[in-house]
Amino acid sequence: MNSQGSTPDGRGMAGWFDPGLPPRQQVLGFVYAKWAIGALRAVVEVKVPDALADGPRTVAEISAATGTNADALYRVLRAVAAAGVLQERADGRFALTPVSEGLVSDAEGGIRDMFLFASDPMLWRPYENVAHTLRTGEAAFVRAFGAPFYEYTKAHPDKAAVLDRAMLQNRYPGMDRIFDEFDFGRFGRIADVGGGRGHFLAELLRRHPGTTGVLADQEHTVAEAKEIFDGSGLADRVTVVPTDFFVEVPSGCDAYFIKNTLHNWDNDKAVLILRSIRRAIGDTDARLLIVENLLRGPGEWDIGKLIDVESLAVLGGRERGREEWNRMAEEAGFAPANDPVPGDVALLEYQPV
Ligand SMILES: C[S@@+](CC[C@H](N)C(=O)[O-])C[C@H]1O[C@@H](n2cnc3c(N)ncnc32)[C@H](O)[C@@H]1O
Repeated sequence: MNSQGSTPDGRGMAGWFDPGLPPRQQVLGFVYAKWAIGALRAVVEVKVPDALADGPRTVAEISAATGTNADALYRVLRAVAAAGVLQERADGRFALTPVSEGLVSDAEGGIRDMFLFASDPMLWRPYENVAHTLRTGEAAFVRAFGAPFYEYTKAHPDKAAVLDRAMLQNRYPGMDRIFDEFDFGRFGRIADVGGGRGHFLAELLRRHPGTTGVLADQEHTVAEAKEIFDGSGLADRVTVVPTDFFVEVPSGCDAYFIKNTLHNWDNDKAVLILRSIRRAIGDTDARLLIVENLLRGPGEWDIGKLIDVESLAVLGGRERGREEWNRMAEEAGFAPANDPVPGDVALLEYQPV
């Protein structure tokens, strides 16, 4: 996951504190987020936004449409409206706002599946015991579920589906900037390593008609990719290769794109993935294109520093700054070929050495 945010003075997300309390009590504002997210998740699970998609409705109408208890529903809707995600109108009806429109199923540019994934119990329960991670270094996820994240999702297809659907919405303004600014058109054939169901590769190929692509991801994930390429009319420009990227990555490409994937792994594992890519490149001049949060320096606001806690406690991975990326890339046989600005999602280009 990626996003950017800061207070107008650029110092951080001070909006999380409650300025109505004395400074020593203001961190209680973080607890409000728990109340709000629990209420909002329930609203999204029972599909209240879908029930409001055609216009404002009364609680009785929403309750009938969603099969929910009217009294409990009203109290939760009122809270979610107070938190700014829905509108409670003077006539007693509730309405969507520009924010909650993104929570309607399949909304264009929407975020419902990502929200449900990010607030799913599998990403929530580790937060009950981040202290375990602090004491032992082990991901709290392992303590809660008995296996690392990707082993767990592999063994639970319903959870893997929640992840794979969310990744189709793993798209933020920083990524648009990369698509606009970076010249992917200079590559004839691009591999998307850990490319999920192929959403980004499809966009790359749409933007660059002279390019062909290879989608490399786990078997159960790429099984769902065909639909996306068939639906975009791109099927004849894509090869889908079920891959374990710790073992092998398909060769024969001019660029190896790997987005929001290396941060799921610790440095040793991430270097193994980079080495697989390096082996696939062989003695060609193909490029490695890493897209990840590029952390800002000490004391600076950076959402990546919070995403890093998820990487640490859930995935056993990490977010990284420029030096750490360069060190790992060097270990795998790459040298930097660009110098992106930190503080948001960035594309780091490396050449083989
Ligand atoms: C966080 S998702 C990122 C997906 C996509 N790149 C994006 O930005 O939306 C990480 C991806 O790594 C894939 N993955 C995990 N373990 C893998 C492995 N051993 N071999 C290949 N892909 C793997 C997952 O299936 C998933 O699609």
